[in-house]
Amino acid sequence: MMLVTGARGAVGSYVPGVFSGEELVLTDAHDLDITDAAAVRDAFRRLRPQRVLHLAGATDVERCEREPGWTERSNVAGTKNIAEACREADAALVLLSTGMVFDGRKEGLYVESDAPAPPSVYGRSKLAGEEDVRRLVPRHLIVRAGWMIGGGVLDRKFVMKILGRMAQGQPIQAVSDQWGTLTHARQLLDQIRALLDRGHTGLFHAVNRGAVTRFDVARETARLVASAVPVSPIPAATFPTAVPRVRNEALRNLRLEKLGLERMTGWKDALAEYIGELRDHGLLNGLP
Ligand SMILES: NC(=O)c1ccc[n+]([C@@H]2O[C@H](COP(=O)([O-])OP(=O)(O)OC[C@H]3O[C@@H](n4cnc5c(N)ncnc54)[C@H](OP(=O)(O)O)[C@@H]3O)[C@@H](O)[C@H]2O)c1
Repeated sequence: MMLVTGARGAVGSYVPGVFSGEELVLTDAHDLDITDAAAVRDAFRRLRPQRVLHLAGATDVERCEREPGWTERSNVAGTKNIAEACREADAALVLLSTGMVFDGRKEGLYVESDAPAPPSVYGRSKLAGEEDVRRLVPRHLIVRAGWMIGGGVLDRKFVMKILGRMAQGQPIQAVSDQWGTLTHARQLLDQIRALLDRGHTGLFHAVNRGAVTRFDVARETARLVASAVPVSPIPAATFPTAVPRVRNEALRNLRLEKLGLERMTGWKDALAEYIGELRDHGLLNGLP
């Protein structure tokens, strides 16, 4: 049986489809609060999971910056509770982490062997979670993702926001001097399943190929939905944010490439897949 935390979030919404045929226990903050150590211990003793897919956590990076205590409780203490319970139950643990563990000064794509040095509260909390998982759980997979695309009605991220503006005919300004890599949530879970089923452990990067700026993503999104709204580039410095600015958080899936196990597509195909999914579910608000 696989226990999933944070299952009703954007990534979690793809779990039943990707892990169909597997016995799943899907939980969220209401039925398994990861910050409650006793509740986590009880749940593991009762359910005896063989695998745990740990998706729960504080993911609003702006709020994380303003509320480090809240962030620490979920992403550090909560993840440690899950890791300790996995160790006791001898369960394999998958932790989703982020390219925001890097300081952004590298020229080129970050690989698994690059040293992390996160400038943000969120990045530091995810790195602390990684370290506890590595230390406490012998059978662990730590998978770093990039700018997530997916979730449909649950999506509060960049692509959904700009689709909303395009549907209203409002012009888009998007940052053109910060680089990252997209990660299609369903593809990411497919990739994780391939790793788990083959018994791989350790640290992996899993993103859609190709470094992009948000301007690139906005322009390609406009093309995919045939939107005529103007899309213009702006420097990050003009866009106010509490989160320390990082010039580059783009990742390369070097370990997956070396193993010949890479399932992630290029970023344009991933974006087209997601727009197609939104279209199929009637979530493009009148855009074609
Ligand atoms: N989104 C990205 O761009 C991105 C990129 C890289 C890695 N990741 C990682 O991927 C994972 C999943 O992200 P996501 O985009 O699916 O995030 P999400 O949509 O915010 O989902 C996270 C889920 O965790 C739940 N949760 C929060 N605190 C909890 C707690 N104390 N106990 C139990 N559940 C709790 C949330 O429930 P409530 O909504 O009720 O709070 C939510 O359903 C996270 O670990 C995130 O750090 C995300």
